[in-house]
Amino acid sequence: MNLPHRKTGFAGQLIAWHAQHGRHDLPWQNTTDAYRIWLSEIMLQQTQVATVIPYYLRFLERFPDIRALAAAPVEDVMALWSGLGYYARARNLHACARAVVAQHDGMFPRDAAAIAELPGIGRSTAAAIAVFAHGMRGAILDGNVKRVLARRFGIEGFPGDRAVENRLWKLAESLLPSEDIETYTQALMDLGATVCTRGKPDCVRCPVHGDCIALKQGRVGELPGPRPCKALPRRTARYLILRHEDRVLFEQRPSSGIWGGLLCLPELQIDDDPRHVARLRYACTIDSAEAQPPLTHGFTHFTLTLQPLTCRVTRIEPHAAQPGLQWLALDRLDRAALPAPIRKLLMR
Ligand code: ADE
Repeated sequence: MNLPHRKTGFAGQLIAWHAQHGRHDLPWQNTTDAYRIWLSEIMLQQTQVATVIPYYLRFLERFPDIRALAAAPVEDVMALWSGLGYYARARNLHACARAVVAQHDGMFPRDAAAIAELPGIGRSTAAAIAVFAHGMRGAILDGNVKRVLARRFGIEGFPGDRAVENRLWKLAESLLPSEDIETYTQALMDLGATVCTRGKPDCVRCPVHGDCIALKQGRVGELPGPRPCKALPRRTARYLILRHEDRVLFEQRPSSGIWGGLLCLPELQIDDDPRHVARLRYACTIDSAEAQPPLTHGFTHFTLTLQPLTCRVTRIEPHAAQPGLQWLALDRLDRAALPAPIRKLLMR
């Protein structure tokens, strides 16, 4: 039934708007396959749709279902994830696939609370999967949704703050429609991603602009409230590009910490002596070292300045092979599991 009153509340306004202005053809839409929906939701955490799409399609080609993913070595998963960032997502994704196969016979549980017990799935992602795959009624609250609600309902404070977040969860739950939960959920995501954006909100095109508290008060730029100011710590490290003929030396990172499990260039403290370290740790002799311009990369908790140093290797000690070290041919780098800033250093 399409009664007129359905279009008046917040949910009704969004559902009506979505028919004309929402996104309908994203690769993870028009399916109720929980595996595909889950994969898209994990990739879309902190990453934009346009970046995710090629990764998502490649991933599905290589791992068409959850059993294929669970059966694969984690290194293959990391390699396909390389460049998307936030690598804990990929490790958890693999752990989650194995848990779903081992504990749920390869099928995602139906309700959001059970889905949220699985590795790497928080409350909002669990709800999105339950909504899109099973039509269950549940509230989502990712960064985009927090922004939409904070503006529309004039919620003060930084949404990462526990008390503010609790308030937003209650609000999100109170707004759920009794039908069309899938369309409503997608509309909320689409509004946050395409209209109620952080930097350039397009209030004229917003279906709820007539009721928006932030707009009425001229405070769209101020809400949601910013993170309380705390300067990020800075770190600088040297990265050796040890070149021997057409190959470069890589070292696998430990599985925890930044770039966990990925292949990285040898990392040195800034005042380490490269010749000395090359010989002792990597068993090579170098005859020239040339510094390249630095590159800065922002992590959530610190800013890293990478100082590359290209070194020509004249000799590798025989029997120098060590676990975790790999000499990779330059023409194989595009398929290797490298962190994005390391790839950038090597490709420029
Ligand atoms: N962001 C998070 N989930 C999404 C989805 N299903 N579609 C588009 N953007 C999203």
